[in-house]
This record gives sequence, structure tokens and C-alpha cells, in this order.
Amino acid sequence: MAEIIFNEVTVSYGDSPVLKDLTFVVEKEEFVIIMGPNGTGKTTLVKTLLGVKKPDKGLVYVLGCPVQKVCPHRKKIGYVPQFQSIDPDFPATLYDVVLTGSYANLGYVKLPGKEEKEEALRLIEEVGLKGMENHPFGRLSGGQQRRGLIARALMGSPRILVLDEPTAGVDLASQNQVRSTIQEIYKRTRIPVLLVTHDINPFLSLVTKIVLLGYGKHFVGGKEDIIREEILREVYGEYVRVIEVAGRKYVMTRDYHYA
Ligand SMILES: Nc1ncnc2c1ncn2[C@@H]1O[C@H](COP(=O)(O)OP(=O)(O)OP(=O)(O)O)[C@@H](O)[C@H]1O
Ligand SMILES: [Mg+2]
Repeated sequence: MAEIIFNEVTVSYGDSPVLKDLTFVVEKEEFVIIMGPNGTGKTTLVKTLLGVKKPDKGLVYVLGCPVQKVCPHRKKIGYVPQFQSIDPDFPATLYDVVLTGSYANLGYVKLPGKEEKEEALRLIEEVGLKGMENHPFGRLSGGQQRRGLIARALMGSPRILVLDEPTAGVDLASQNQVRSTIQEIYKRTRIPVLLVTHDINPFLSLVTKIVLLGYGKHFVGGKEDIIREEILREVYGEYVRVIEVAGRKYVMTRDYHYA
């Protein structure tokens, strides 16, 4: 059985469906990009996967278990939420925040022990933040906070990693660091990654599948099926180009045109 199954899933807020009859599977070791313009339901898809938002119709399975039921496998999803600004005086250090990633697996009674504490320090090092353990989380840069949240998501060795726009809103150098962190973690763990992003070009060499959401439509396939102007235009309109340089494809949309 696939690691994630969405079978004809429809999800609405009130009367308006955001996702309609969406079907896709994620197999072991897949790297899946979820893309689409603002408001097309990317975060809604993630919340449905996490079991937070209930579908009106269809079935969602995670690691063989339907998420609509009480499903222990949900705890095996490492999740980095879409960015929200954090109060600079938020009273927790980087280390405190990473350690909270162990709470889901510990349950209500057990406190993090030596093992979890060592794991938190190891993951902080892996995401390139060694030495910053005791920094107040709210005073880290946006990129450092994202990497901290990735470390947090990896606590307890999740079997799936889901990241909702981890490179949005950080400066270019920090974007590169966040991207390499994600790429290195995928190469090390080979757990399936679901990455919501507008920033697809740097990940295209790893991508095994793309879920492209439009308003009222969607496309699912390999990059050779989706990274085509005739498909992307269905969602992004006419201002989209696929260019090929040295055998590699790059997507240009109007989002890239800031000047
Ligand atoms: N709690 C909610 N109640 C009502 N409508 C909602 C709610 N959350 C999202 N929506 C609406 O559902 C649609 C999809 O929202 P969603 O956040 O999933 O989009 P998204 O693709 O993640 O967008 P973005 O790129 O801006 O993050 C939007 O029209 C949004 O306004
Ligand atoms: Mg979103």
C-alpha cells in the first residue's frame, strides 16, 4: 500500500469546495511538490492529510490508516506549518522549540528524557544551527526559524515530512540554506517529502511527482507531465514559460518578475 492515498477527496469551507475529487498517491521515497497560485487549497490539502480538516467526500490514508479515524500514524508525520510571524519575545529558546517536536510521541504523561534531548541537539546541528540552542526562538532570523521548525518536525523520526512553503518570505541566502537543509534531509532519510512551494526550480531534480492545484481544477503527474507550458497555463494563465538550459527545465511565472 502507498504511504499516502487521496482517493476522490473533496474538501470545502461552507458551500465552496476548495479541493474537488482529488486523487493521488505518494509511494515510499517520493519527493512530491504541491504547487498552485494563492488560495487554491495547498494548505487545505496539508490539513486534510494531517486529519485536521475533514473531507466532505473521499478517503485519505496515511501509512495504511484512514485519517478520518483515530489514527496513531498521524504522529508519524513531521510537519512544518506555513510561516506565521513569531513575537520576538516569544519565551522559548531554539532548543525548547525543537524539543516540543517529541511531545506527540511521548503522550501526556512522559516528559522528554535524555534520548529526546540528545536527539534535539543532533537535529539542531543537522539543520546547521549548532551553537544557537539557547537563542530566543523569536529573535532568530526567518530562515533560522524555518530550519529550527524543520528540526522540530524531524523529532521522533517521522515516516513522512510535510513542509508548507518553508522558503517563503525569507531572504535569498536563507532560502538557499533552507532548500539545502530539505534536500540533505531527503537524501539522508529517504522518507517521502511533500513540499508546498512556489519555488520549484531548485527541487526539480529530486521531484518524483507534482500536484498542481488551480481554481476548481488540478493536475497530478510526474514532472515530465506537469512541467509543460500547456499544462501550467491552465493554472497560471498565459504568463508562464518553461525554459530548458543544459538539459534542465526551469519554470518562469509572473511571480518571478518583481521589477
Ligand atoms: N478556515 C477557513 N475558513 C474559510 N475559508 C478558508 C479557510 N481556510 C482557507 N479558506 C479558503 O480556502 C481557500 C484555500 O485556502 P488555502 O489556505 O488552502 O490556500 P493555499 O493554496 O494554501 O493559499 P496560499 O498560497 O495563500 O497559502 C482560500 O480561498 C481560502 O480563503
Ligand atoms: Mg497556504
